[in-house]
Amino acid sequence: MGKRGCAVAITMIMVMWLASLTAATSRRSMLTNSLGMTPPMGWNSWNHFGCNIDEKMIKETADALVSTGLSKLGYVYVNIDDCWAEISRDDEGNLVPKKSTFPSGIKALADYVHSKGLKLGVYSDAGYFTCSKRMPGSLGHEEQDAKTFASWGIDYLKYDNCHNDGSKPIERYPVMTRALMKAGHPIFFSVCEWGDMHPAEWGAHVGNSWRTTNDISDTWDSMISRADQNEVYAEYARPGGWNDPDMLEVGNGGMTKDEYIVHFSLWAISKAPLLLGCDIRNMTKETMEIVANEEVIAVNQDPYGFQAKKVRMEGDQEIWAAALSGYRVAVVLLNRGPVRYSVTARWDDIGLDPKSVVEARDIWEHKTLETRFVGNLTATLDSHSCKMYVLKPIA
Ligand SMILES: *[C@@H]1O[C@H](CO)[C@@H](O)[C@H](O)[C@H]1NC(C)=O
Ligand SMILES: *[C@@H]1O[C@H](CO)[C@@H](O)[C@H](O)[C@H]1NC(C)=O
Repeated sequence: MGKRGCAVAITMIMVMWLASLTAATSRRSMLTNSLGMTPPMGWNSWNHFGCNIDEKMIKETADALVSTGLSKLGYVYVNIDDCWAEISRDDEGNLVPKKSTFPSGIKALADYVHSKGLKLGVYSDAGYFTCSKRMPGSLGHEEQDAKTFASWGIDYLKYDNCHNDGSKPIERYPVMTRALMKAGHPIFFSVCEWGDMHPAEWGAHVGNSWRTTNDISDTWDSMISRADQNEVYAEYARPGGWNDPDMLEVGNGGMTKDEYIVHFSLWAISKAPLLLGCDIRNMTKETMEIVANEEVIAVNQDPYGFQAKKVRMEGDQEIWAAALSGYRVAVVLLNRGPVRYSVTARWDDIGLDPKSVVEARDIWEHKTLETRFVGNLTATLDSHSCKMYVLKPIA
């Protein structure tokens, strides 16, 4: 081969190599913002306040996340949900913060929240209007809105699915993904198409989290059924992309203390986003004890990011388990039934060698049990309650 032939051959090989690299990259991860290496933690306005929001209460919430110590535990996102913008865009087509409730604008709010060491999230919709129909959605304005959010310093976008044009989420959502990637500021992208088109199967290319369910409400049935629907997709969760069974209701008053402990335990072990949905400015001691449990939070934030699976169901009794770093296993023993019942977690169900001797830490009681367990561990549980352990083989 002459010099020229050789150069042509090398060029062709380079082109083919580059093409395959590009294809592999876009197939693997269109969204490459390096965010969400553990599930996001913070607060969102919707569950407690709905549309009843303004800049004063958002600032007070940011203050409260710091003064309660919750921000130190990882709750850093302050996420404004629906209803923050005027119904009409300005003459250039930009979103306009609602003058009556956010007179200082969102940029000023972002600056305030950042000055506290926190991050600010906003909300939009892959449709013509948001779900409240009180503000525009971003469909057809993706690049412009992503640029606006980036210019304000926004750190998180929840992207809802109301009032769309009937096209598939898998067509509408990636438009915003690309817009966010081009906007020049890393923004956590929370895909919220309610689980309609199995987003777990495509979400990793598109968002940092994807809702697997319809909206949660503050009842036991709503909460537990969302945990169930979300569990189906456990194998898809991984650092950078999480299944999202919706935000927390702990502290909003619709469930008992035991039920809220189940709620928080299942969200933690399922590697769900931990987004508080109560009034942070006015939390009871009981609510604080639940959401500030550092050992339960540590299970959620474990670097491996394995989502729990239901490894055994016997009637109303269930075992949920997830491998953790350090050869440990997190396990939830759950009684969903109406009466007190005893529940057993077996080593061969939860991925431990049946012969291994295990140290069990009860992470709601904050006690390492004196008994060493071989083969199984049993707890007797009241109705709608659970136990949560971190198990560590010691021999
Ligand atoms: C604070 O919470 C209590 C219930 O825990 C409620 O009765 C009270 O109205 C709340 N206060 C405000 C200002 O929301
Ligand atoms: C639990 O393990 C013990 C031995 O450590 C065994 O005697 C018992 O039958 C086991 N129980 C269950 C429910 O597997």
